[in-house]
Amino acid sequence: MIAPMRRLLPAALFLGLSCAAGVADDAAKVRLLMGRNDRLKLEIQLLTAEKDPDRAIDERIGVMIRAVKEATALRPLKDAARNDLLPGLSVQALADLESLRGLRWSPQTREANWNRLEAACATCHLRVR
Ligand code: HEC
Repeated sequence: MIAPMRRLLPAALFLGLSCAAGVADDAAKVRLLMGRNDRLKLEIQLLTAEKDPDRAIDERIGVMIRAVKEATALRPLKDAARNDLLPGLSVQALADLESLRGLRWSPQTREANWNRLEAACATCHLRVR
């Protein structure tokens, strides 16, 4: 009972918040948030070459999570049907990003961790871009 409620709540919230929002505005906001996400991803890539990067990487994943949450309340795309997909995809992507919190980044784990990060971003991009 609790699990379906948790899945429905973001969708309900999203509908409530997005009714008044203009598409052009939302597209610009999402581009800004995603541009930042891209920069954070690049920073993470560079950090993996450093000693003990775990905390700095974790902080950046936290910022990404906030950006994706913010993007969830927007309708950036011209196609309404694709906008409707975003909240559901976002729930999945956020769960994947949350699962990356507190990971140990080492030369041994780097590749697997990185692939998980890319997959979290791709959750939306494969469907809505
Ligand atoms: C909730 C779904 C969602 C998630 C998760 C997501 N994105 Fe996006 N992203 C979008 C949408 C929607 C667009 C398209 C915006 C447009 O075309 O106006 C986009 C576009 C982009 C763009 C292109 C921006 C531009 O200027 O056109 C980049 C870069 C990007 N995302 C990076 C990322 C990164 C890095 C992550 C992982 C941290 C990520 N995104 C996760 C939904 C998502």
